[in-house]
Amino acid sequence: MRILVTGGAGYIGSHTCLELLNAGYEIVVIDNLSNSKLEALKRISELSKKDFQFYQADLLDKMTLEKVFLKNNIEAVIHFAGLKSVGESIEVPLHYYHNNVTGTLNLCQTMERYNVKKMIFSSSANVYGVPERVPITEASPLSAINPYGRTKLIIEEILRDLYGSDNSWSIALLRYFNPIGAHESGRLGEDPNDIPNNLMPYINQVAIGKRDKLNVFGNDYDTHDGTGVRDYIHVVDLAKGHLKALEMVIPTKGIDAFNLGTGTGYSVLDLIKGYENATSKKIPYTFAHRRPGDVDKSYADVDKANKILGWKALKSLEDMCYDSWRWQKNNPNGYDE
Ligand code: NAD
Ligand code: WQD
Repeated sequence: MRILVTGGAGYIGSHTCLELLNAGYEIVVIDNLSNSKLEALKRISELSKKDFQFYQADLLDKMTLEKVFLKNNIEAVIHFAGLKSVGESIEVPLHYYHNNVTGTLNLCQTMERYNVKKMIFSSSANVYGVPERVPITEASPLSAINPYGRTKLIIEEILRDLYGSDNSWSIALLRYFNPIGAHESGRLGEDPNDIPNNLMPYINQVAIGKRDKLNVFGNDYDTHDGTGVRDYIHVVDLAKGHLKALEMVIPTKGIDAFNLGTGTGYSVLDLIKGYENATSKKIPYTFAHRRPGDVDKSYADVDKANKILGWKALKSLEDMCYDSWRWQKNNPNGYDE
């Protein structure tokens, strides 16, 4: 069974590639390395002791996409490739729409031509906008509050229209909550460019001494300690969710959305405490203004993924924190040696 993984060199993609290889799937990876390094792919081979075909190419390059499908007998696609920074998407929306939406259109058109109609798409909890209530079910209202989230919502709608026009497609829309953590080998992890936007990579950089302190954005939210609450999920649990989704998508037809989270919300202060306990590193912090666009609470109802995909996140907050730190400690400069 050969699976095309777009964005396979990235944070979630690399962990998923490793799980796929370990489970006996053959993979082909396409990634333009705009937000990732070749070294991640080398380490996937090292850890799995398996080789795979890699195309350094852009989804906007239709010729290469054509070549990838022509030369490889692809049966299903896991589509991670996309730009993911909310803040950047507000600054350069056209770039985000072009990369994420046009890239997906090119991919779907090529899939259709080669009669490959099984896809897992990386959506996001961002499609719930400002949630009316938590935990968030898949039936909750969808709304985008930034261009990044809108690209995800638009792509979900495109995929629903595609299925509406041709019921032989089989598509899983996976709405990830907040992936953190790293592979237990300490060889794969998240390697942000520049100053991290997300909480865990920032905490890691404070722990390793690259930054003095963490700014906690807001302490007057409607939460148990006033700081923002999120559903943090270990990236390896998330990667395994893709294998469960593949097992569903391959033999069936249809389109459905699934929340991938743990179902538990932790605040920023809970995460800091969890990190300090798991790693014995002190994380100095100060309270700062709320970050525009942040919601007070976001965590998933995960019953649907549990019942239909037979998937559940298993790793604890301690695992997430310790594994994040091990990755940072072993790779202080990420994938740059
Ligand atoms: P990432 O940036 O680490 O990985 C994305 C990969 O896609 C990168 O390797 C990048 O080089 C590649 N890429 C981007 N545009 C491309 C293009 N046009 N052609 C070819 N390759 C391209 O991000 P990630 O955290 O691994 O996220 C993977 C997917 O999951 C993304 O679609 C993201 O929007 C989505 N997602 C991520 C999170 C999160 O917090 N990390 C949460 C929800 C959803
Ligand atoms: C988590 C909490 C911040 C940094 C984003 C996207 C989402 C998904 C995951 C892609 C919030 C607080 C953060 C800092 C802080 N990505 N924080 N100091 O915003 O929940 O989700 O990434 O799809 O769609 O929106 O994640 O890690 O940025 O923030 O206090 O330096 O940490 O305010 O409460 P977020 P995050």
